[in-house]
Amino acid sequence: MSVSFDGQVAIVTGAGGGLGRAHALLLARRGAAVVVNDFGGARDGSAGSTEAAEAVVREVTEAGGRAIANGGNVVSEADMQAMIAETLAAFGRVDILINNAGILRDKTFAKMTMDDFRQVVDVHLTGSANASKAVWGAMREQGYGRILMTSSTSGSYGNFGQSNYGAAKMGVLGLMNVLHIEGAKYGIHVNAILPTAATRMTGDMMTPDMLELLSPDLVAPAAVWLVSRDAPSRTALLAGAGTVARLAIVESEGVCFAGQALTPEDIGARFSEIAALDPLLEPAAGLAHVDRILARARTALGLAGGADHA
Ligand code: NAI
Repeated sequence: MSVSFDGQVAIVTGAGGGLGRAHALLLARRGAAVVVNDFGGARDGSAGSTEAAEAVVREVTEAGGRAIANGGNVVSEADMQAMIAETLAAFGRVDILINNAGILRDKTFAKMTMDDFRQVVDVHLTGSANASKAVWGAMREQGYGRILMTSSTSGSYGNFGQSNYGAAKMGVLGLMNVLHIEGAKYGIHVNAILPTAATRMTGDMMTPDMLELLSPDLVAPAAVWLVSRDAPSRTALLAGAGTVARLAIVESEGVCFAGQALTPEDIGARFSEIAALDPLLEPAAGLAHVDRILARARTALGLAGGADHA
């Protein structure tokens, strides 16, 4: 089925370069009017200009598309409110938000200042919340919206020297999970992309032969599909070097000790069973986990409302 954004309006934060630019160009090629947000800062988040965003707008308009530049800082709630006001004034609606803006301040945790920690969490996590909050009312009212978070394997699996970044990038998955639940009845789908691409952000972390295989254009199709009309919700896709995969947060079935005095020694004695991911479960929401463990406890205790098996 062809993916079209005709008649739709998309905001992409941090779209002056790298992945955001690739997302914006693909959305525009498929018919969306695009708001190219970029604060134009340096890689560590220090301020810059709107030149990068304007250059991407020129690329879109020269190819016959519609776009405007916005120089707002995602960390500023007021800037994000102004961005949605500009979007509605220019294009009359907003269908899509891709939270992509990001910075790095890599250091080992021992050397990292708490200012470095806060700045990175502010841009990735609070910035994603600020921009999502700004579009939320309009999306709820129109009964349609698509929001994409940009997460990272540095969060889902960890990466040396990125405690601030890894924490923020897992934070946006928590934001996705909750906005998915709250947005469902308004037709708002919330997903995440975990990219790997050669950009300004990663250029000095990778060797030239790695960079060659990692074009942002191999990430944008997955990001763009996740904000399309047919997109699922609460789905996190890993994309890079031509591979697209799904990240899942799963839990083991675990061991139910209900009805017996539980000691730390019991955990140690049965740790391998507790940790075994066979079977593995993927709860649809936090409450699904709570329901499961309560049902098992009721079964173990012979109470009504137990699980089929304990
Ligand atoms: P990039 O540095 O090329 O792009 C980030 C853009 O965000 C820049 O143009 C920058 O000016 C803008 N930006 C930074 N702070 C901003 C703010 N406060 N307000 C508005 N704009 C701001 O980096 P890249 O690689 O394209 O990163 C895009 C996203 O993908 C980031 O969220 C990054 O963390 C994430 N990511 C990238 C990976 C990669 O392999 N390149 C891996 C995992 C995640």
